[in-house]
Amino acid sequence: MKKIIGMAAAGAMLLALAGCASGADSSTGAGDAPAPEDLIVGFSQVGAESGWRAANTKDIQAAFEDAGIELKFSDAQQKQENQIKAIRSYIQQGVDVIAFSPVVESGWDTVLKEAKDADIPVVLTDRSVDSADTSLYVSFLGSDFVEEGKKAGNWATEEFADADAVKIIQLEGTTGSAPAIDRAEGFADVIGSDPKFEIVASQTGDFTRSGGKQVTEALLKSNPDVDLIYAHNDDMGLGAIEAIEAAGLKPGVDIKILTIDAVKDGMQALADGKINFIVECSPLLGKQLVDIVNKVVAGEEVETRIVTEETTFTQEEAIAALPDRQY
Ligand code: AHR
Repeated sequence: MKKIIGMAAAGAMLLALAGCASGADSSTGAGDAPAPEDLIVGFSQVGAESGWRAANTKDIQAAFEDAGIELKFSDAQQKQENQIKAIRSYIQQGVDVIAFSPVVESGWDTVLKEAKDADIPVVLTDRSVDSADTSLYVSFLGSDFVEEGKKAGNWATEEFADADAVKIIQLEGTTGSAPAIDRAEGFADVIGSDPKFEIVASQTGDFTRSGGKQVTEALLKSNPDVDLIYAHNDDMGLGAIEAIEAAGLKPGVDIKILTIDAVKDGMQALADGKINFIVECSPLLGKQLVDIVNKVVAGEEVETRIVTEETTFTQEEAIAALPDRQY
């Protein structure tokens, strides 16, 4: 089994280097797909910091169970060193494929080279790495975070079209993580062209509700006249709501709130008028990840980048979507 996987991995990595699209068979053993029960996948998750993450974990575990593939799962508690340890342990155990959602973007080259040397293909899910050598992983499945930031910026531009000045507090995600970097960049790209928008404060809330609450409490003291809070995820926006209410103000009215994710709690707050707009980031990556794993081990081509399809929600759209919302 391991030999076939090694050949498949090498083939997939070559295809990744060439930036191939999926669909056609490669000459690396396509059709020799191993049985699901013979496969072991090691997955290193970021942590359990948000509703999004909980939904992502549940979806991935359910997809592998449905596919009959053994999934070794580890929670890194938002620490890169824990992920590196988990990946090394998966290499030692000789799993067939390693998948992980990197806590931060940088610092992965060494461990990814170790996986490559051991002929174990690596799939990135949700978040990417900044490694210059893209042959170190076979595919990256996840959202376009820059695009999400741009969608947030576009909403702000329309919402405040008639305003002369707009003061913004930005609640950043985990420092050094791809979504924090890219969502800030995409947002700045859009609002930066209009000098009436001013980000008066920008601090990390680490993608947690408690972080969003604490940072908002502190920042509201020095910026009581803020117009908009742009939170890099729903959980930090929900924490901001608590801080705004504790300050005797009305979230969504006295201070507008713009978030990313669209998990149920965020959507409920949007339906209730406490959040004003949400850019969706889908955590439902499980089935696509299983699909990539099956292709890689069968020696089939895989797309080197698979972008998740996402939308945005106004209050009316949240009210309509909530009854069927899966997460
Ligand atoms: O990487 C995706 C982000 O991580 C989600 O937007 C956030 O909620 C999570 O913690």
